[in-house]
Amino acid sequence: MPVREMKESDLPEVLAIQRELAFQDWKEPQFVSEIKADYALAVVYESDTDSAEILGYAIFHLMGPDSELLSIATKRNTQRKGIGTSLIQAGFQKLSAGDSLFLEVRENNANARHFYERHGFEPFSIRKNYYSDGETAILYKKNL
Ligand SMILES: CC(C)(COP(=O)(O)OP(=O)(O)OC[C@H]1O[C@@H](n2cnc3c(N)ncnc32)[C@H](O)[C@@H]1OP(=O)(O)O)[C@@H](O)C(=O)NCCC(=O)NCCS
Repeated sequence: MPVREMKESDLPEVLAIQRELAFQDWKEPQFVSEIKADYALAVVYESDTDSAEILGYAIFHLMGPDSELLSIATKRNTQRKGIGTSLIQAGFQKLSAGDSLFLEVRENNANARHFYERHGFEPFSIRKNYYSDGETAILYKKNL
């Protein structure tokens, strides 16, 4: 599986994916601290072509029963090819039976909600006005 740990040298490509998708606005230092944190898993999906292009990334906080998926993204022109699935499975593999993985997603992000539901996440709560633009967040949970 072409998923490996994220390195600081990946950040120009990771930031370009985030910019292209405009779903989040993390600055470079936030990614650097996730790469360095013991409790965090930051991974990228790298194409196996000569250009070794980064096609997606994900960031998890692995804390057993209170684990969290903070971010996941696949480059627009390579979505629906299983890359997001490979990335999320990298997190599932680090968790144990009985652990839970939480996440929050914008209510109107239908693509991501389909993706999460496909991977066994269930909505359990909502937070109105959660995002700075007033949008509602849906909280999801998956029990491993
Ligand atoms: C959510 C996201 C990461 C999914 O990545 P992906 O590489 O396209 O996912 P996969 O190809 O592994 O999709 C697996 C399944 O999820 C579901 N799914 C994924 N994208 C979907 C979409 N646009 N519409 C409906 N279902 C979708 C499907 O069931 C899909 O299986 P299928 O293609 O066999 O039907 C991607 O759409 C993305 O980067 N979105 C923008 C960023 C974002 O919103 N991130 C989440 C918020 S933090």
